[in-house]
Amino acid sequence: MAPPPEPMRIRVLGSSAGGGLPQWNCGCVRCVRARAGELAPRSQPAIALSADGARWSLVNASPDVREQLARFPALYPRPGTRDLPLDTVVLTNADLDHALGLLVLREALPHRIVSTPWVRDALLEHGAPWRLLERAWGVVKADQPVALDRDGHLEARLFPVPGKVPSWLAGLASNHPEATSALRVSDARSGRRLVYAPGVARLDAGTLAELEAADLGFVDGTFFSADELSRTRPGAPDAHAMGHVPIEESLPVLAERASRGRRFFYTHVNNTNPALDPDSPEAARVRRAGLEIASDGMELEL
Ligand code: MLT
Ligand code: MN
Ligand code: ZN
Repeated sequence: MAPPPEPMRIRVLGSSAGGGLPQWNCGCVRCVRARAGELAPRSQPAIALSADGARWSLVNASPDVREQLARFPALYPRPGTRDLPLDTVVLTNADLDHALGLLVLREALPHRIVSTPWVRDALLEHGAPWRLLERAWGVVKADQPVALDRDGHLEARLFPVPGKVPSWLAGLASNHPEATSALRVSDARSGRRLVYAPGVARLDAGTLAELEAADLGFVDGTFFSADELSRTRPGAPDAHAMGHVPIEESLPVLAERASRGRRFFYTHVNNTNPALDPDSPEAARVRRAGLEIASDGMELEL
């Protein structure tokens, strides 16, 4: 009998929303407890993917990428060389918590950067420092395939999801179908599919179909409820307006899929989200529905 195909490997580099846990300027109960070591700290959102465990690609580059790579020996340069086992950095949007890490990784550029044309143009036009990276930056249209690894096992496609213009670009650019994507990665060896969707304003039919077809999904877990922010900061916009479907709405839909053997992890979890506390009723609801909350350093095989 043929041996089972080698799995795709996934490492969660960071599982929080922008700001991390604790967030430097926040004294909320969860940030206080994270400083006290009572809740696991979280860095800003990104994952790393590999076809063989030897060479890797990143999905988004968070401001914490330097520490995230320091904690992950598989991505160290080969001793005595500048050989870095990093092939591609794919961006799902132009949010600072997804793109600032490109500037942290600005030296040498052995890797290539891939995004939609809108995301590249927005960053190069309005974010002068990103122009340093222009020569390494390739664009792909929605649903156009990109080979992530050299053997062509992992095929990635960005697909559009409901989203918003990043707040730093508000007033500079208007929303566009290419502004916010999620990533689907199919492994030609096993036929398995991963979906990474850290920012989704609404679960529209297209997004649901992608999640339906995924064997493993990372889904926007920024907020637990739609009015989470306005309860602590009166006047703050609701979750949808900020580009994030709340867990309360996605949970029933994903629970139904999880009951059929798919694994779903919430990621990009904001420090306002009560489910960050594993002893909270909200975290219990996520577990009861058969879903999980991603954590930093988590490694998975698919
Ligand atoms: C988000 O995830 O909503 C963004 O990181 C916030 C922003 O646009 O700055
Ligand atoms: Mn974000
Ligand atoms: Zn806080």
